Amino acid sequence: MQRREHRELVDLPLHVGVDERRGVEAGAAVDHVASGTEADAALMTTDEFERSNLGQLKAGVQIVATDLSGSMLATCKSGEYDSLAMGRGLSQERLQKYFDPKGVGRWAIKPAIKSRVEFRALNLLDSYASLGKFDIVFCRNVLIYFSAEVKKDILLRIHATLKPGGYLFLGASEALNGLPDHYQMVQCSPGIIYKAK
Ligand SMILES: C[S@@+](CC[C@H](N)C(=O)[O-])C[C@H]1O[C@@H](n2cnc3c(N)ncnc32)[C@H](O)[C@@H]1O
Repeated sequence: MQRREHRELVDLPLHVGVDERRGVEAGAAVDHVASGTEADAALMTTDEFERSNLGQLKAGVQIVATDLSGSMLATCKSGEYDSLAMGRGLSQERLQKYFDPKGVGRWAIKPAIKSRVEFRALNLLDSYASLGKFDIVFCRNVLIYFSAEVKKDILLRIHATLKPGGYLFLGASEALNGLPDHYQMVQCSPGIIYKAK
């Protein structure tokens, strides 16, 4: 399970959201970044998209990474991974391009690219108003902590942070049920994402 989820993140189809907007402002809210993979996957995908679609992202890309835990945010800010994490679906090409070796069996994402992420402490139970509006929200393996009622409330408030037509990514084993007026399920290959109505 872990391997599959990491692979999904490393190969995440960020271009699904960016491409459709053909050069208009794009933003990605990366919720709950325990190991930093979601933010770093967004960084790599954004960088690759920008390089192969020069000038299309006219307003740039804003990536905001949030978590409740300050120590978790510090870990994510470091951008460091061990070889086990690096072996879960990251291509050699991306490893060489985006990471520097950090001692034996450790790697860190290059500071120049990491500096594009804004890290913020956020409790999902509090207001998201200060975050702004986003094209994409990643929220993997966090909703499992909450009751059905609280989960629904969080999903509605995440919906309010998404621009119309924006996408929500959950974990591989998570599903969004019961909000048909707010989200449309989109089958990808692999995985499922949810489009804000
Ligand atoms: C299982 S980890 C998942 C992290 C990451 N998305 C991943 O898949 O690797 C759950 C994360 O949710 C965070 N978390 C738990 N309760 C939270 C809350 N009320 N608000 C914000 N973050 C919370 C924890 O600090 C932890 O980093």
